Amino acid sequence: MSQPETQVQSPGPGHVPVLLNEIVAVLRPQPGETYADATAGRGGHAAAMATQVGASGAIVLNDADAENLAFATTRVQQAAAVGESKPLSVTAIQGNFAMLPRRMEGAGLAAHAFLADLGFASNQIDRAERGFSFARSGPLDMRFDASRGLSAFDLVNQAPERELSRIFREYGEEPGAGRVARAIIAARAAAPITTTDALADVIRSVVSKPPDSGIDPATRSFQGLRIAVNDELGSLDALLALIRLAAEKHKVSPVPKTLSGSGPWLAPGARVAILTFHSLEDRPVKAQFADMCKHGLATDLAPGGITATEDEKRTNPRARSARLRAIRLIGA
Ligand SMILES: C[S@@+](CC[C@H](N)C(=O)[O-])C[C@H]1O[C@@H](n2cnc3c(N)ncnc32)[C@H](O)[C@@H]1O
Repeated sequence: MSQPETQVQSPGPGHVPVLLNEIVAVLRPQPGETYADATAGRGGHAAAMATQVGASGAIVLNDADAENLAFATTRVQQAAAVGESKPLSVTAIQGNFAMLPRRMEGAGLAAHAFLADLGFASNQIDRAERGFSFARSGPLDMRFDASRGLSAFDLVNQAPERELSRIFREYGEEPGAGRVARAIIAARAAAPITTTDALADVIRSVVSKPPDSGIDPATRSFQGLRIAVNDELGSLDALLALIRLAAEKHKVSPVPKTLSGSGPWLAPGARVAILTFHSLEDRPVKAQFADMCKHGLATDLAPGGITATEDEKRTNPRARSARLRAIRLIGA
């Protein structure tokens, strides 16, 4: 996602779920089913799913961001409690979603409906101290999981020029990637670049604003850095491979073993949806889903992908570039 400006909405959810009705319609969660959310965020999608699966169902929430995961868990529990006499089972798992399948299988959990809503949540961008935004001065960080891994500070101040240039070109699709990398190398030779606004100034010194565009010249480079810091495309590739593996297991052995702890993390016939925000994310999802359908591992639930209505795009800028792709796995 690029970074449209939003108002800080704390202490509320601070994030409006994108394509909510369309996702509920595609995933069709039924009473008693298990819904797994790879990117729980502020729990907007998951809270809606919780009301559908009801107290006899179960929810699995995952997020790399511990604070968002905790917020989503409380929100889902509250949503599910309305009108129900017994609490809904909610399992919260913190970490990269590439690890979620193994952790679900280890816990004997299998989802009938699954969503990954990629990228960042608005509250993460809106908080200067998370270091995602060129529009707010904060420490250069950008990690979804602030407790581990290299931060944007580490990359910006330590990566070689070629690597920086690759990041801006491949992940930011920045035509001036080489210039940005060279400017960073020159600036950091004088003093480390420690803040988002200092980095944005370096980028703006060598990238001009496209005429008639409201886009900040730092937008593409910031997107590239965020994708690199969080290995967003590597995590997505790993997740897609594990979705396919679950379907392959159902093709070989159609008997469900979901509660034994040895069955796949996606139930036979599971509905799987992925919401992307730019072509770097959408391309691998489209290709993997198409190939699974071609090989009889799944059927397409949203041919061509689903995009937001003009109404939603007007009220939620984050919906503008969203594309939803969805499949049903073999085996039900
Ligand atoms: C667009 S938001 C999800 C919003 C959520 N659907 C809602 O309705 O509030 C994306 C969330 O995914 C998390 N995230 C992004 N990449 C991740 C990954 N590889 N593993 C786990 N969580 C990730 C972010 O921390 C963020 O909270």
